[in-house]
Amino acid sequence: MLIDTYGRVATDLRVSLTDRCNLRCTYCMPEEGLRWLARPDLLTDDEIVRLIGVAVTSLGIEEVRFTGGEPLLRPGLTGIVERVAALRPRPRMSLTTNGIGLGRTAAALKAAGLDRVNVSLDTLRPDVFKTLTRRDRHRDVLDGLRAAREAGLTPVKVNSVLMPGLNDDEAPDLLAWAVEHDYELRFIEQMPLDAQHGWRRESMVTAEDVLESLRTRFELTPEADEERGSAPAERWIVDGGPHRVGVIASVTRPFCAACDRTRLTADGQIRTCLFATEETDLRGALRSGAADEEIARIWRHAMWGKKAGSGLDDPRFLQPARPMSAIGG
Ligand code: GTP
Ligand code: 5AD
Ligand code: SF4
Repeated sequence: MLIDTYGRVATDLRVSLTDRCNLRCTYCMPEEGLRWLARPDLLTDDEIVRLIGVAVTSLGIEEVRFTGGEPLLRPGLTGIVERVAALRPRPRMSLTTNGIGLGRTAAALKAAGLDRVNVSLDTLRPDVFKTLTRRDRHRDVLDGLRAAREAGLTPVKVNSVLMPGLNDDEAPDLLAWAVEHDYELRFIEQMPLDAQHGWRRESMVTAEDVLESLRTRFELTPEADEERGSAPAERWIVDGGPHRVGVIASVTRPFCAACDRTRLTADGQIRTCLFATEETDLRGALRSGAADEEIARIWRHAMWGKKAGSGLDDPRFLQPARPMSAIGG
């Protein structure tokens, strides 16, 4: 079991498969991209499967989420999914992606054992998409979303970050579109995890702003508390149901007290939190021949150091050295 000093138990493992991405979202990375991890520093497919195996068989992990950067850029993804699906107990498996390439891969991923996907899409307007992501790939994302739904990678969730002056007027349109296409939409508050350190609390679009904007067109009823569990999204029933809309208010209504996560970066470091300023090296242990029990011990020990919360409200808050794309959302 992965338990921390506050009694929280991690059952959800997020695995970053690469720090690379084929978009350049302005809230994430600069136009020129970042200095990517060197190939030898990345965990191999075998190493990833081995670590997930330890997490599932010895540490109580029940759900594995693959993230990036953009996880569809990892050539061995389908094989990794297939091998994780063969582990016992078999963990639930999901993927967080920008959707580009899903059109080609959704069916194979489903066949390999992936259960569901979350796709990032911040706007319905191709020109705004191009400004926000600095790439002209709006069509590809829509195609990817459709393929995911058709392949049964459901419920398909859509993540939207609203940026002031760019797409902050789009919340009701995005919700109408998501309801029509049967996607579960969630709005995410922008977090200080961008490589350029451009986040400003005063200018971010808050959960309250989003809800106010949605209420101009929809009737929203809060979902019962017990349905939330440790999910980051608070959800509302839209116009009496059955559709729901979520808000992930990491900044204004943090959910750290219920956090059930542990993370593994693409270069084999354990992170106890999205906002952790320290990491614990597993790759070194792995490559120097550590047995499964030793790996499990290092992981348990790392989680013991998990902080109470993100520290965002602390005036001494320091943004982690690694940006979102290298941490894995
Ligand atoms: P499901 O609800 O299980 O589908 O997954 P999810 O919402 O946790 O996953 P997803 O990868 O779609 O993440 C959505 C947003 O929640 C992203 O912006 C993440 O960075 C954010 N998020 C995920 N985990 C954490 C966390 O531990 N803490 C905080 N503050 N935000 C998180
Ligand atoms: N703040 C909030 N969400 C972010 N994402 C990427 N960078 C940030 C940020 N700085 C979102 C992506 C994706 C999810 C994993 O995190 O859009 O949907
Ligand atoms: Fe890529 Fe995701 Fe960062 Fe956008 S937010 S540049 S899709 S890693």
